[in-house]
Amino acid sequence: MTKPFHLAWFLSQGYGPKTWRTAWPGADVDRWMMPDLFIDLAKGMERACFDYLIIEDSSNVPYTYKGSHDTYLQYAASTPKLDPAVLVPYLAQQTKHLGLVPTLSVSEYPPYLLARLVNSLDHVTEGRIGWNCVTGSNDGAAQNYGHDKHRPHDERYDVADEFCDVVTRLWEAWEPDAVVLDRERPMFADGNKVHAIHHEGKYFKVRGPINAPRSPQGRVPICQAGGSPRGQRFAAQWADTIITEGGGSAASMKAYRDKVRATAAALGRDPDSIKVLFLAHPIIDVTMDAARERQRLEQAAALEHMDMQLSSMSRLTGIDFSKLPFDEPLPDTLTTNGHQSALAKWIGKTPRSIVTTWATKSGIDYTGTADHVAGMMQDIMQEVGGDGFLIFHGYFDRRYVMEVCEGLVPELQRRGLVRKGYAHKHFRDNLMEF
Ligand SMILES: Cc1cc2nc3c(=O)[nH]c(=O)nc-3n(C[C@H](O)[C@H](O)[C@H](O)COP(=O)(O)O)c2cc1C
Repeated sequence: MTKPFHLAWFLSQGYGPKTWRTAWPGADVDRWMMPDLFIDLAKGMERACFDYLIIEDSSNVPYTYKGSHDTYLQYAASTPKLDPAVLVPYLAQQTKHLGLVPTLSVSEYPPYLLARLVNSLDHVTEGRIGWNCVTGSNDGAAQNYGHDKHRPHDERYDVADEFCDVVTRLWEAWEPDAVVLDRERPMFADGNKVHAIHHEGKYFKVRGPINAPRSPQGRVPICQAGGSPRGQRFAAQWADTIITEGGGSAASMKAYRDKVRATAAALGRDPDSIKVLFLAHPIIDVTMDAARERQRLEQAAALEHMDMQLSSMSRLTGIDFSKLPFDEPLPDTLTTNGHQSALAKWIGKTPRSIVTTWATKSGIDYTGTADHVAGMMQDIMQEVGGDGFLIFHGYFDRRYVMEVCEGLVPELQRRGLVRKGYAHKHFRDNLMEF
C-alpha cells in the first residue's frame, strides 16, 4: 500500500474525568478539570504524528435513564464536562502540529458567536483548529437553551446547512490581504476588502462581517459524524473529515466510504477532499493472551456496571432502556429523534449484547499485540481504500496513551502506513496531504 492513512483521537466523554475508578487512575486523579492529562495525551499524539484530537461535548446533566440523573452522576457518564473550547489553548501551547477539534453544537450556539470563537481559536493556534459540527440529540440539552425539545431530526440538519453557510461566509468576510497595517497613511485594514454578508435565511439573520481578520486557515476544517441518510448528505456537503463507527466489518466500512464519496462527487466536491476516519478501540499488550485477558476484564466490567452503558444508550436516543428487557432483541418499532444511526444498528440485538460490546463500538475487535493490531489495520485499510482510524477510549489513562502512541503507532510507522512527520504548518494542509 503506497498511500498512508490518517490517525486521530476521539476524546470520548469530552473534557471531563477520565480514568478514576480503574487500576491506573493517575496521581492527580482529583485534578481532572486541569488540562494536565489532556496535555500528556496531546504530546503523546504529536510524537506519534496524529492528525487531530476531537474533544467530544454535550452540555447537560442527562436524566433519560430511569428518569433520573443519578446513574450519570454516579459514573461520571456524560457529565461533568467542562467547555472544550477552554481546553484548546492549553493544548495548543504545549504542541506545535496537532490539529485541535472542539465540538460545538449548532443547536446551542448562534452562528456568529461560533464563527467568532473558532476564528479566534484558529488565530491563537496559528492554524491548527477544526470544528466538530454536531446538531444535538438529547432533549435535556435543548431545555438548557430555551426549548422543550430538539427540532425534528432531519430539520436539525436543515438548520445546520444554513448555519454552515453563514459561518463559512463569516470566516471569509475579510479578504486575505484586508489587513494593511500601514502606519503612514494610516490604515490598519482596508474597508474595501471587508464585506458584510447580509444573510437573511429561514433560521438566521446575520449582517456581518465578523469583527476579526481572516484566520490562518480561513475556512476551518469541519468534522462531522452524521450517520443517518440525512446526516450523511450533510456530511458529504460540508465535512473535510467524517468520523464514523463503520458498521462492524471492512465491507461495511468500504460501503459507507464509497457512498459518502459518491454523494460528495454528486454535490460537485472532490471525494479526496473528505477524509473518512473509522472508530477503533485497540487493546494492546505484549502477548496475544495478555491482550485478550485485558479485553475479558473490560467486558466483565461493562456487564458489572451495565447501568452505565444503558444510561449512555438512553442519553443518545432519548429511550429509557431501564424499561426494556435485558435479554430480548430490541423491536424495530423503536424510534428516536436522537442518534438514528446508532439505534438502527442496535435493533434486533439484546441490550445485554450491546452492553458487552460497548467498548469496541466499531464492532471490530482490535485486540492483540502491536504487531497483530497494526496488521489488522493494514488489511482493513487496504480493503476499505482509506482514509484512517479514530482511536477512542471513554475513560483512558496514561498507560493507554503510551500503549497506542508508543506501542501501536511505531509499528504502523515501521510498516510505512502512517506519517512520521508533519509536512505542513496548518491542520487542513496536513489532513489533505494524502
Ligand atoms: C465518533 C462520533 C463522535 C461524535 N461526537 C459527538 C459529540 O461530541 N457531541 C454530539 O452532540 N454528538 C456527537 N456525535 C453524534 C453525531 O454528531 C450524530 O448526531 C450521530 O452520529 C447521529 O447522527 P444521525 O442521527 O444522522 O445518525 C458523534 C458521533 C460519532 C459517531
